[in-house]
Amino acid sequence: MKQRTIGQTMVSAIGLGAMPLSIADHPDESQAIRTIHAALDVGVNFIDTADAYRPAIDDPSGNGHNERLIRKALAQYHGNKSSVQIATKAGNIKPFGDDWLVDASPGYLHRACEGSLRALGIDCIALYQLHRPDPKVPIEESVGALMNLRDAGKIKMIGLSNVRIDHIDRARRALGVRGLASVQNQFSPAYRKGEDVLSYCHEHAIAFLPWSPLGGVGNAGRLAGGGAFAETAARHGVSAQQVALAWLLAKGPCVIPIPGARRPETIVDSARAPDLELTDSEIAQLNRYPHAEG
Ligand SMILES: NC(=O)c1ccc[n+]([C@@H]2O[C@H](COP(=O)([O-])OP(=O)(O)OC[C@H]3O[C@@H](n4cnc5c(N)ncnc54)[C@H](OP(=O)(O)O)[C@@H]3O)[C@@H](O)[C@H]2O)c1
Repeated sequence: MKQRTIGQTMVSAIGLGAMPLSIADHPDESQAIRTIHAALDVGVNFIDTADAYRPAIDDPSGNGHNERLIRKALAQYHGNKSSVQIATKAGNIKPFGDDWLVDASPGYLHRACEGSLRALGIDCIALYQLHRPDPKVPIEESVGALMNLRDAGKIKMIGLSNVRIDHIDRARRALGVRGLASVQNQFSPAYRKGEDVLSYCHEHAIAFLPWSPLGGVGNAGRLAGGGAFAETAARHGVSAQQVALAWLLAKGPCVIPIPGARRPETIVDSARAPDLELTDSEIAQLNRYPHAEG
């Protein structure tokens, strides 16, 4: 698969978003492991997870369900896994109604990192992301904790998620201009509010990882239901989801989509997106097409 970079690290242009393998309606473990193996088989070597990805708040498995699943899948994989890079996150502690409780205090981030290292069974996390800024904690303090973890060799690269440009500016002042490797924000055909952040990342050579790039679990099928993405897909003889991922990739070399999957077939299909060449006029049409949100 074509490669892109996060910091100095090469990763597949399409990553695997592992969240649907652990949250509500997740598949059984054997299907989840087959899905991860299918991704690795087609050259996906970048997997996004978080300590908070777990079936339900009252599930006895606790935090780290998704991280432990990835560890198990990698242990059982017989192909080449030497280049696999895992990105995880901390700071979102649990869903509370429709909202998430957030703790991005330095003490919590240190404890969460130790928990993720244990769950993943590794001694250094390739990309550690602040899941969400904490309104109670200045972002400089949160990224200061991540710098300490990096200095201690527990994480290699630092990323942010769910941030505005002012958060990124403040974090970069604390980290130094080359200190921020990635930003992970929501972005998809249906949700384009983050275009300013994407442009900022492009300008400053920061990897941009669009989350829910297909509209989220349960919504990805809508892309095929008509409109510019479905029409472009029909012309190329590919899925509308592949067109959406190719459109995201065309937004700039900093973009690395992380589509979620519960089934091997969907990640295998998504992994073909870097080879789909869209014409300039197709991209212009997809840019104009305001796919209905939600
Ligand atoms: N930082 C954050 O706050 C945050 C928030 C949400 C998500 N994320 C990350 O972003 C990742 C992706 O987001 P998401 O999983 O919410 O949504 P998504 O990637 O937009 O959609 C996932 C759904 O798309 C379907 N799909 C994937 N590829 C497809 C294809 N080629 N053809 C048809 N259907 C396809 C999958 O179907 P099947 O289930 O049938 O395989 C899956 O249910 C997550 O896994 C997580 O790692 C981060």
